Amino acid sequence: MQEHLTVVKHPLVQHKLTLMREKGTSTAVFRQLLREISQLLAYEVTYELPMTTRTIETPMQEMDAPVLAGRKLALISILRAGNGLLDGMLELIPSARVGFVGLYRDEETLQPVQYYYKVPDQMDNRLVIVVDPMLATGNSSAAAVDLLKKSGARDIRFLCLLAAPEGVARMKEAHPDVPILTASLDDSLNDAGYILPGLGDAGDRMFGTK
Ligand code: URA
Repeated sequence: MQEHLTVVKHPLVQHKLTLMREKGTSTAVFRQLLREISQLLAYEVTYELPMTTRTIETPMQEMDAPVLAGRKLALISILRAGNGLLDGMLELIPSARVGFVGLYRDEETLQPVQYYYKVPDQMDNRLVIVVDPMLATGNSSAAAVDLLKKSGARDIRFLCLLAAPEGVARMKEAHPDVPILTASLDDSLNDAGYILPGLGDAGDRMFGTK
């Protein structure tokens, strides 16, 4: 993936995203759509995974068949909303290793505060995909990537559902080497750090909290 920002324009992604944005969409439907959309995004973000071949036997003959090369990739969920993307992605990539970064946003400063960190070993040898549905200010995303780089990660991609221009700019400034893949580049952030037009609080909508 060469571009710093890739917006996945696939009609299924865009249609599902519109349903998710609607305020009347129930928690159950929101969660189901998130699962579906996360698989479509996982498909895109893994498009250029390195391949090798393995000699296998079909019922007809021997062949050198393509298989994924290298270490199992690492999916890193930024808690708690990242878990909504994680579930669907793991259905598509069941052998992926999984890590969690717990950061909450201080509502006054909008700065990230770390409360949990656990990631797979050998991060330097894995493709690392960080998942968080909302790239808003970019502060917690940039902080999460800082931590992952300290753990040795070198090949990192960031996958989100919605991105605000402010968050994309913040990530580009802090981590120009980390490509971002999203279903939409939205218009702006409001004063409380919510994405506009957005879909509200992603965690609340997927977990049914307020
Ligand atoms: N986090 C959310 O859940 N929603 C936003 O709009 C911004 C950050």
